[in-house]
Amino acid sequence: MTWNADQYLTFHDLRLRPALDLLNRIPGIEPRELVDLGCGPGNLTGLLLQRWPQAQVLGVDSSPAMLERARARWPALTWIEADLSRWMPREAVDLVFSNAALHWVDDHPHQLRRLAGMLADDGVLAVQMPANFSAPSHRLIRDIAARPEWSAVLGEARMGAVLDADAYHTLLSACFATVDVWQTTYFQVLQGEHGVFDWLAGTTLVPYFSRLDVVQRDAFGAALREELSAAYPVRTDGSVLFPFTRTFMVARTPQIVVSRETC
Ligand SMILES: C[S@@+](CC[C@H](N)C(=O)[O-])C[C@H]1O[C@@H](n2cnc3c(N)ncnc32)[C@H](O)[C@@H]1O
Repeated sequence: MTWNADQYLTFHDLRLRPALDLLNRIPGIEPRELVDLGCGPGNLTGLLLQRWPQAQVLGVDSSPAMLERARARWPALTWIEADLSRWMPREAVDLVFSNAALHWVDDHPHQLRRLAGMLADDGVLAVQMPANFSAPSHRLIRDIAARPEWSAVLGEARMGAVLDADAYHTLLSACFATVDVWQTTYFQVLQGEHGVFDWLAGTTLVPYFSRLDVVQRDAFGAALREELSAAYPVRTDGSVLFPFTRTFMVARTPQIVVSRETC
């Protein structure tokens, strides 16, 4: 997948808000070492450093373009190019933070156990993921990609997936002493008829556009914009309303220090 930091950062303020909501729910800990998994251009990693300036901060991401942007902004931090579904820290860390990234990898029961296994005794896991996969925006991308003219080239494209929030609570409760899971729907106001398309172009569409050449991208984009315009009509003030639900989880004190098998 080829990520574009500029496109992603177009909606910086709206994308930042859930990340801040997650950050604000992290209890009063003093991490010595923390990791930002799927750190992207490093905007959250920088905020983690601001909150815990004494901490050793690691940013992990698989996109060289995103890491280049992150490194340019925060050269003193440690940036690691790696697949977050396999990467492990050398030593246990006190905080694993992951905003809008974990949904890109499969097998969340396995991944949550792995994340619990990265943490020190009183460590904290803080994760936010989109839970909008059944919304018209995401459904329309899948519907168009399944059409005969696109299915051959886009059949393997995957926009990520999440479990239901209660499933995360159950999984985390087997691994951590304290668990807090919640969802929030943000009623995002985007400007212009194609605001939803522009939003999706920075994230959800990345695996689709990565498989298309410029001409195909224009054609797929035109078909999607038409459908999105009907699903998210322009309001009298020229904006479109884009409800977006997200799942949050903050868990503390991994129990696998007692028995790795139970979690
Ligand atoms: C939507 S961005 C979020 C970036 C950042 N966490 C933020 O909140 O601004 C998703 C990031 O996850 C990264 N990503 C996706 N799959 C990954 C994987 N398997 N391993 C590491 N990073 C991954 C992408 O490269 C991208 O930078």
